[in-house]
Amino acid sequence: MLKREIRKGIYSVGVQDWGRRLFDSLIPLPDGTSYNSYLIEGSEKTALIDTVDPAFVEEYLNNLQGLEKLDYLITLHSEQDHSGSIPMVLKKFPNAQVICSPKAKDLIIEHLLVDPAKIRTVDDGEVISLGDKSLRFIHTPWVHWPETMVAYMPETKILFSCDFLGSHAATSEMYVKGDPAIMESAKRYYSEIMMPFKGQIKGNLKKVRELDIELVAPSHGPIWDIPEDIISAYEDWVSDKMENKVVIPYISMHGSTGKMVDYLAKELIQRGVKVELFDLAVTDIGKLAMALVDAATIVIGSPTVHVGPHPVVAYAAILANAIKPKARHAAIIGSYGWATQVVDSILGLVKNLKVEVLGAVLCKGEAKEPTLKELRDLAELIAEKHKALPM
Ligand code: FEO
Repeated sequence: MLKREIRKGIYSVGVQDWGRRLFDSLIPLPDGTSYNSYLIEGSEKTALIDTVDPAFVEEYLNNLQGLEKLDYLITLHSEQDHSGSIPMVLKKFPNAQVICSPKAKDLIIEHLLVDPAKIRTVDDGEVISLGDKSLRFIHTPWVHWPETMVAYMPETKILFSCDFLGSHAATSEMYVKGDPAIMESAKRYYSEIMMPFKGQIKGNLKKVRELDIELVAPSHGPIWDIPEDIISAYEDWVSDKMENKVVIPYISMHGSTGKMVDYLAKELIQRGVKVELFDLAVTDIGKLAMALVDAATIVIGSPTVHVGPHPVVAYAAILANAIKPKARHAAIIGSYGWATQVVDSILGLVKNLKVEVLGAVLCKGEAKEPTLKELRDLAELIAEKHKALPM
């Protein structure tokens, strides 16, 4: 991308990764992503906030052409999509001091082989002056690594937030400008990356709320020019509130489990419960993660493969266990051929979920009336349970 001015002496110098479709070889990126970096020229000192994925270092260094000296290379988060170009930047600016949180120091040394003598750690609340501008570092652990922090510039009221409050989106627009597609990218990002740390994020949001913010400048996606939009969205996502909604990830090999899923979905809808179905054979796993942000109940639908769950269902269960949605209830349904142990197998994969298991409806072959009644009873129980939840 280009060097573009945000405020006087503050520039966006990162890059857009239009073609990336997977992050961590796991997370779908339908809209690509960006690796944002910010150059701040103070009256006395010059600082860079975050670098870019090393695959883009050449373009990045081009964006920095004309920069004669760099005093501080600030790394808010040590994951390589932001820190990976530190060694190359230090090669160009050997006198720059790397600024990071105390917990980041070892990570930068171990992962990037940075000379420890070049690293200065900053405490929570510590301020570094650039002359007419300054940066206050606020430790915000677990968004999404233990070492993460944000930087606040009081003179311009800009919060540099790195992954926190970011979105995976490649765009030529520098600002969000209320674009709902960016809010969806931010929710996707939250669900896949941040959701396991809801508790810690609540505390970090309180720290952010104490600041007077005009811009939130993350290190992925465009800058939030209406900070309230993303801050209040995060407050909603991490809250205890949930939707009167059942998410049903499922697989069906010959249609029997699929018919059970459809039947249960219709019974839930008739009882005023919203449903979202995800056929795991074809679904975008990120859409499933987003649906789990506020669902009250998860019903897993799996056929039996050699007495266990379908491997794709097992994968989705492991993923749900990792991202720790706030759902309060769960159930398992599915068809089997001659024998099954799917319930014990699946429950063994989702031990992180703090859910009440409302039951399992399993049937040999095609679902017949006794099974259909069990599904109606399950729908009734879910609808009743939802009435008691904070919505
Ligand atoms: Fe964008 Fe956690 O790295």
